[in-house]
Amino acid sequence: MSPENNKQAAVIDLSAEEKEKLEAIRKVIDTYKDKEGCLITVLHLAQEIYGYLPLEIQRLIADGMGVTLSYVSSVVTFYSYFSMVPRAEHAIKICLGTACYVRGGKRIVDRLEEVLGIHVGQTTDDGKFSIQITRCLGACGLAPVIMIDEEVYQQVNPDKIEKILSKY
Ligand code: FES
Repeated sequence: MSPENNKQAAVIDLSAEEKEKLEAIRKVIDTYKDKEGCLITVLHLAQEIYGYLPLEIQRLIADGMGVTLSYVSSVVTFYSYFSMVPRAEHAIKICLGTACYVRGGKRIVDRLEEVLGIHVGQTTDDGKFSIQITRCLGACGLAPVIMIDEEVYQQVNPDKIEKILSKY
């Protein structure tokens, strides 16, 4: 098979896989749509199926569950477990809750964007890091705080960023 054909086959496979995932998410929605308080369960299962929760998936869930897209988005951004970007090898979450914001959280965002060459909501080309904003991570006394995978870094300042990233 020529490289061109190979490429085409890959695209077809991907879209078939994509369709399968969407179908699986629709089934999850059907199972839970008439039950009270199941949005988080649906989001959780959808993320397991799709890997992350981009706006199109959030819209599908909002329509299926009979709630607004902005409500679904507020839930997704509130819980640091949910991701709106494809899973990178290392997911960086920057807290911009009140304590972190007033103690320089925005400068951490700027520095990370500069060092990694991506914006919030994006993943580096090599798939190694993604950056997301999150709300309070429960360590306000030691703000500003970032989280990389499951590890929490406290009292971060922009000058520490490169050293922290070098561990990964
Ligand atoms: S506001 Fe950032 S940890 Fe609470």
